[in-house]
Amino acid sequence: MSSNAVLVTGGAGFIGQHLTSKLLSKERRVVVVDDFSTGKPLKEHPKLTVIEGDISDESVRKEALTQVKSVINLAAIASVPLCENMPEVSRRVNYLAAQSLFQEASESGVSAILHASTSALYGVPKQLPLNEKDPINPIGNYGLDKQKAEDALLSIKQSPVCALRLFNVFGLGQQRGSPYSGVLTIFSERIVQNEELTIFGDGHQSRDFIHVNDVVSAFIGCLEDLEKNGIYSKVSGKKFNVCSGESMTLLDVVDSFSSYTENEIVLKFKPPREGDILHSSGSFDSLNKAIGWTPSTDFSERLQELLL
Ligand code: NAD
Ligand code: UD1
Repeated sequence: MSSNAVLVTGGAGFIGQHLTSKLLSKERRVVVVDDFSTGKPLKEHPKLTVIEGDISDESVRKEALTQVKSVINLAAIASVPLCENMPEVSRRVNYLAAQSLFQEASESGVSAILHASTSALYGVPKQLPLNEKDPINPIGNYGLDKQKAEDALLSIKQSPVCALRLFNVFGLGQQRGSPYSGVLTIFSERIVQNEELTIFGDGHQSRDFIHVNDVVSAFIGCLEDLEKNGIYSKVSGKKFNVCSGESMTLLDVVDSFSSYTENEIVLKFKPPREGDILHSSGSFDSLNKAIGWTPSTDFSERLQELLL
């Protein structure tokens, strides 16, 4: 295996597929570890190695780590309600496996360890937009386990590490036909099929939607900076929001969708989901100052694309 290989855990998932293709297009070798619980088969590529396995399994982690220069950890149960329904799986995958991976990666001397953290760590915000200095107060298993994983990563001082707190990521390629997918994927799918949309709560909850291409550029920007500057990188030992800086309510989203379809959109309201956060929006100033990252996709254009 060449010395530029990157391990992408969860590389068969929504964000993982986009990230893997981008890394391959930059002539990086990629080793994907995925149990395909929500991931889809990856297109074959001469520089791609896929290890089908559970990231909780030490032998799987070891097999992958011996082949790579750097690590990006995306494998997780990404659905907030699924983590509520399956607390032991959330703890095993989202926290314990991540913690072991970080420790073992650091011990094996990799050049960079990056992790997909989440805005869910902030819990119910006291003020918006959120920045990285704001208090952490996750609610629910997903947020709590992701917090422990982030803490485990940032406690490693001897390796270049960085956590990206992703806000609500959207774009083509998110798992379809699943009630556990992101809201924009579910809504677009239902609109196309002429099915009613379910809104949990009153629809006034807001989210900061960030396109998957921007998330990929944030990971690659941080990866390259860590590999170049090691623990002296401006992103090393830190966590960063990855967000658009704008927030939309679900009712705003429905309005936007309605301007791109002739299908009638029918809404059905149900009680709010347990562990749901009401409002979320972030500031990306820190990542911008560190590596010049800025989101560059047009929300409306990308929303429209989901309906095609
Ligand atoms: P996803 O479900 O599409 O991808 C997760 C991948 O991990 C899947 O391919 C799945 O098969 C794999 N996986 C799950 N358990 C595994 C295990 N035990 N061993 C090996 N592989 C396993 O989700 P995503 O939206 O691509 O999310 C990727 C990461 O980003 C997750 O860590 C998630 O918590 C984080 N994140 C996502 C969002 C978002 O809005 N999508 C926002 C914040 C953070
Ligand atoms: C999402 C991510 C999570 C990430 C977090 C960061 C997914 C599946 N989850 O969680 O990994 O860490 O962002 O902020 O990508 N809703 C409806 N109707 C539906 C589906 C959802 O009303 O059919 C509502 C939900 O109750 C919630 C909002 O839409 O209020 C967003 O839900 P969802 O897309 O699941 O994302 P988060 O729970 O914010």
